[in-house]
Amino acid sequence: MDELLKNLANVPESIRTAVRNQGGGHSNHSLFWQTLSAAGKGGAPKGDFAKAITEDLGGLDKVKEEAGKLGAGLFGSGWVWLVLDGGKNLTILTLPNQDSPLTEGHYPLFGIDVWEHAYYLKYKNVRADYLKAIWNVVNWDFISDRYAAAMKA
Ligand SMILES: [Fe+2]
Repeated sequence: MDELLKNLANVPESIRTAVRNQGGGHSNHSLFWQTLSAAGKGGAPKGDFAKAITEDLGGLDKVKEEAGKLGAGLFGSGWVWLVLDGGKNLTILTLPNQDSPLTEGHYPLFGIDVWEHAYYLKYKNVRADYLKAIWNVVNWDFISDRYAAAMKA
């Protein structure tokens, strides 16, 4: 699926929208589940990933602030993404719906699902509270390892 999303323009037009939406949704959530941990058990960014968080994005507090701002400002449904861009720099961005960072030439490290289904049961319509609380359940070990593997590739 990730290969199809990377080359979405080459997918036959008759199935391109389905690959983009359903395939993107599968890919995004498959990563999402792996990047979450039990509350308070997610550790902290480590190794070269921790260094890059500071060098590329100004530190973890800035990441949380920027992700919160972008997530709150995202109209409708979509995701906030922490990605490696084409130059292997960390970047935070949003994409609508189930669009995959892979289609944009990025490598996703962590995505925050900001579809209403992700937070409505617990946070009602207060997306900002969800965007603050999500950091309590982020699996930084997994994301640090994913970063290290991507930098080696
Ligand atoms: Fe979702």
